[in-house]
Amino acid sequence: MEDLRVAIGSDHGGFYYKEKIIEYLKSRNIPYIDVGTHTREACDYPVIARDVAEMVISGRANRGILICGTGIGMSIAANKVHGIRAALCGDTYSARVSRAHNNANVLCLGERVIGEHLALDIVDIWLKAGFEGGTRHARRVGMIE
Ligand code: RB5
Repeated sequence: MEDLRVAIGSDHGGFYYKEKIIEYLKSRNIPYIDVGTHTREACDYPVIARDVAEMVISGRANRGILICGTGIGMSIAANKVHGIRAALCGDTYSARVSRAHNNANVLCLGERVIGEHLALDIVDIWLKAGFEGGTRHARRVGMIE
């Protein structure tokens, strides 16, 4: 696994999974920054998405994980930040290929959509997967930028 530094955030709709994912990160000694939210009180997902995105863009983290009810709001918001390639994943194949082909630097999950164990598998696979690079994929990712 590459040297990982993960910025993680959720709104109230993803709070429970955020805590579970943090347990996973701790158990594997993966450094992380928890940008919140820190309670179950309703909050605005675009603020959290921006904070995680800025951590990744500034280099304070090299991967981001965002969780909300569906993962959709988080992915829309994070992808507004230049240089962010946020992938909303509900299956392990997409998680792996979002890294291999798209060099996704942010993973988005929907707590109200997928089960807890699937979410943790997705995180595990996504964090371990590398970008294939090569002329095809690197060129296409470059076109996005
Ligand atoms: C909050 O109720 C919900 O809208 C939010 O977590 C997310 O699903 C937005 O995309």
